[in-house]
Formats: sequence, C-alpha cells, structure tokens
Amino acid sequence: MTSDEIEVFVICAAADIERGGARSFSLSRIDEAGESRPFPIMVIRTHDNDYFGYANSCPHDGVWLNIGGGDFFTPDRGFLKCGRHGATFEIDSGLCIDGPCRGDSLRPVALVVVGGELCLCGVRLVEDDWPMHDDDDETMDIMIHPD
Ligand code: FES
Repeated sequence: MTSDEIEVFVICAAADIERGGARSFSLSRIDEAGESRPFPIMVIRTHDNDYFGYANSCPHDGVWLNIGGGDFFTPDRGFLKCGRHGATFEIDSGLCIDGPCRGDSLRPVALVVVGGELCLCGVRLVEDDWPMHDDDDETMDIMIHPD
C-alpha cells in the first residue's frame, strides 16, 4: 500500500443503524507493532443522518459506554452517557461536558459511507476475526485512491 491509499473496511450496511440510534462493534485492529488488539467502537447515526464514530471506551475508566443497561444515550437522547458513573458527552464532538472525566473527549474514529455501506477508515482491522458483530455482512476490502 502506498501512502496516498486509504484502507477502508465495511462495518455494516449504513441503514442497519436507525436514525437517532447507535450500535457497538467489537473489532480487532493491528497496532504499529503488528499485534492484534481489541478495538471496540460505537457508531451513532443522528436524526439528520450524520454518522459519528468513537472508540467505545470511556475516558474515565475505559469501560464501554453502553455497559450495564446497554443504552448509549441520556434519557432525552441529546447526549451520550457512560453507563458506569454517568459521564455525559456531546454526540458530535465526543467532548465530556459532565461527570468524572469532564473536559476529556471520546477518541473519534473516521467513518465514511460508500455505496450504502458504513466503512471505517485508516485502521487496519484483523480480518481473520471477521465478522465480530451480530450480523453476517460480507467482509469487503476497498482501496480509495484520492486525487
Ligand atoms: S467509567 Fe465512564 S464515567 Fe466512570
């Protein structure tokens, strides 16, 4: 792969996440040393049809945000919320605005929708472990060649 190629991996059909909803995915990535590492992420789809992706790891104590009850959101669904100690995050920035890690941010992951498929960019995933989530989408490996 040359430096002007971006590797993207299909995660799921974009329509598989409902507007105003979110899903988590337990992926594995290959780090700089070539080692396989767990890479849990979450993807939020807004009512305006924007997609935001973050590592599913609370900056306070590293747990999945949807730990416990399984929900990602505050009761009014205006913010993301950690299920352990209640840290509250802006959906579009990942910034923690309340709770024990106030001022910290969720780690963003780059997403793109290609041909109706939601894809993760710039991360080498462990394809042998595919699929790691709860549906059976085909694995697809696309190379984008920017102009
Ligand atoms: S682990 Fe998320 S607020 Fe403490």
